[in-house]
Amino acid sequence: MNRSIEAIKEAALRELASAGTPDAVKALSVRYLGRKGAVTRFLRNISALPAEERPRAGKEANAVKKALEATFADAEQRLAEGAGAADDAIDVSLPGRPATPGRRHPVTLISGEICDIFARLGFDIVEGPEVEKDYYNFEALNIPKNHPARDMQDTFYVSDDVVLRTHTSPIQIRTMEKQPPPVRIVAPGKVYRCDSDLTHTPMFHQVEGLLVDRNISFGDLKGILTAFVHQMFDDRTALRFRPSFFPFTEPSAEVDILCVMCRGEGCRVCSRTGWLEVLGSGMVHPAVFENVGYDTSEYTGFAFGMGVERIAMLKYGIDDLRKFFENDYRFLRQF
Ligand code: PHE
Repeated sequence: MNRSIEAIKEAALRELASAGTPDAVKALSVRYLGRKGAVTRFLRNISALPAEERPRAGKEANAVKKALEATFADAEQRLAEGAGAADDAIDVSLPGRPATPGRRHPVTLISGEICDIFARLGFDIVEGPEVEKDYYNFEALNIPKNHPARDMQDTFYVSDDVVLRTHTSPIQIRTMEKQPPPVRIVAPGKVYRCDSDLTHTPMFHQVEGLLVDRNISFGDLKGILTAFVHQMFDDRTALRFRPSFFPFTEPSAEVDILCVMCRGEGCRVCSRTGWLEVLGSGMVHPAVFENVGYDTSEYTGFAFGMGVERIAMLKYGIDDLRKFFENDYRFLRQF
C-alpha cells in the first residue's frame, strides 16, 4: 500500500477539475471506482494491513469511495445539462427582439406644446444660458444686491457675480438688449434653485414670455394668457388673476386656473380651493425698460413665466414631481 487514500482522493479531484465532458467524467469514475480502480484496489488491500489498522483504514476508504461516487455523478450531470443548454443557446429560427425606440420626455413634450401654442400666436422662440451673470438674473430685472426679493429664490452661486439662473426671466433682458421693440418671444429652459423636497427639485423647467409694443395693456396680457390656457387645457378652464409682487413687473399678477381635476369643487390636488396656481405675470416694470434702453414713454409690455413640470402634472394627472427625474422607463414610456 504505497498511496494513502487521501492522496488518491486528491488526485481524483485534480483530474476531475479538467474533465470537460460527461464521457471524460465517466472514464475517470472507472479509473478510480471501477473493478480495477485505485480506490477499489486500496479497499482490497486492507486485508494485508496489520489487524489494528484495518478498521480505521476501511472506514476512511469507504468514506472516500462514497464521496467520489457522489462528486462524479454530480459533475457528470452538470456537464450533460450544460451541453444541452449550449446546444439551444442560439435558436436562429426565433424572431429578433425588437429594439425599443427612444421617445421624448414628458417635460420636453409639454414644453414644446406650450411653445407651439405661443408660436401660433406670433411669438418667436429663443433660448439663453443656464449659467448666468448676476446682472441678467437679478440686477437688470430690478432686483438689486441685498434686496429682500432675492430671498424668494434660493440661488446656486457659481462665483460672486455668476449664478445658475433661478428663472428664465434673464432671457427677457438678453433679448431686449439685442433688438429694438416690438418684441414677442417665449423662452423655454432649465432653471435651478437650492431647494429639494416633495414638491421642489433643484432643477426644473420654465417657459418665459415677453411682449413689448406700443399700447400694450393688462387687457392684452389677460387675452393672451386666456387663449393659451384654453388651448393647453380646454375652454371651460377659467382663469383668475390674483394681485402679486415681482420686482420686474408692475402691476404683477399670479394666475390661477380652475382646478382641472375637480372643476372647482375642491379636491386634494387644489387643496380644496378649486383653483391651481400656474404662472406669474405682470406689466414690465419701467426700471427694466430703462436698463435696456427702451423708451418708456412709447412702449409698454407684459411678461409671464410658468413652471413646465406643474403644467405637465396637471395635463397628465401626475401627483409626484419626482417621477419626472427618476428615469424609470415604465413611467416614461407612457407619454
Ligand atoms: N420669473 C418669475 C418666477 O420665476 C415668474 C415671472 C416671470 C413673473 C415673468 C412675472 C413675469 O417666479
